[in-house]
Amino acid sequence: MRSVVSKTNVPLEIIAAAQALEAGKLVAFPTETVYGLGADAENPQAVANIYAAKGRPSNHPVIVHIAPGADISYWAKEIPAEAEKLIAAFWPGPLTFILKRADHIPAAVSGGQDTVGIRCPSHPVAIALLSAFKGGKGGVAAPSANKFGHVSPTMASHVIEEFEQEVQPGGLIAQVLDGGQSEVGIESTIVDLSRLATHGPVLLRPGHISAEQLAAVLGVMPASPDAAAPRASGTLDAHYAPHTPVVQVAVGELDDVVQQLQAKGRTLALMSYLAHPAIHADAWRHLPNDPVGYAHDLYAGLRELDHAHADVILVEALPQEKIWQGVNDRLRRAAFDSRDVLEKMLGN
Ligand code: TXA
Ligand code: MG
Repeated sequence: MRSVVSKTNVPLEIIAAAQALEAGKLVAFPTETVYGLGADAENPQAVANIYAAKGRPSNHPVIVHIAPGADISYWAKEIPAEAEKLIAAFWPGPLTFILKRADHIPAAVSGGQDTVGIRCPSHPVAIALLSAFKGGKGGVAAPSANKFGHVSPTMASHVIEEFEQEVQPGGLIAQVLDGGQSEVGIESTIVDLSRLATHGPVLLRPGHISAEQLAAVLGVMPASPDAAAPRASGTLDAHYAPHTPVVQVAVGELDDVVQQLQAKGRTLALMSYLAHPAIHADAWRHLPNDPVGYAHDLYAGLRELDHAHADVILVEALPQEKIWQGVNDRLRRAAFDSRDVLEKMLGN
């Protein structure tokens, strides 16, 4: 499935998936960031079914995915020069723009807001699907293919695990396309270009494409979101969380916290990136000590540790440097109420 798909030789699975989308059904598909749960962006009922499957509030906007070279002015009514420059630099790829929504595009896709999120992914299977769907002229609305608030999927098996009910014959999801493990591993960088005159470019969600990379193209550093900015679900305080509580622990405190927890009879899973041979954990996943490798394995690691059903997942806190911004953002939300959880377990 990972091979590049030529237009004259489109696999039947892709054609079937494109037809299912055209018929208003849901299809899960791989992207280079995470797997998406897709529907025809211009079919409000199909978009509503995404919300139903995810258990997500319907005022949360979803990203519209388009094929390489598709006409972005069909979706957005003003295309600023900044968008053109970023498209030239980063598309297809893990970057989403928020632009002013064209009047004929249903509001359902943007949770009623007057903007629209657009992205052209680089995964070959996503490109094949988007090129086959409506002859490459359509848009596929797709949030990450997980239940609301849960860890995003980076493999087809994660999607099937998330949507056990919905992938049954006759269920809400018609097909799950398998494109192997997502290369990037965390969701796309989102930059809001819809209020340039008043706010300049705003970084709504950090990701693989960094603020510095955006600044190099834009000539200005994108601002951080203010309180008045539209709420993006990936920016809610608690998100991307496994079922087991996640607690981030500073490297220097780890041995002590582990000892205290084990003295209280607690079981623990550990996600490390430095070596900790002295610690005995009930489950252990070691991630690469670089932000790109760490992002690639982060969600699969959290899911694997979740399966150990320990009392807590301890995550060795990462450096606070800019290059770690994307993964630190996801970990902070996965470990949102972390300190309270730890206090309770230690009975302090
Ligand atoms: O990498 C990704 O972006 C993945 C893959 C599937 O493309 N998709 C993804 O979708 O992460 P989702 O729905 O889980 O997150 C989309 C984010 C949300 O935080 C949403 O609120 C924001 O994009 N968003 C989408 N349209 C928006 C809009 N018009 N205004 C503000 N935020 C928007
Ligand atoms: Mg999501």
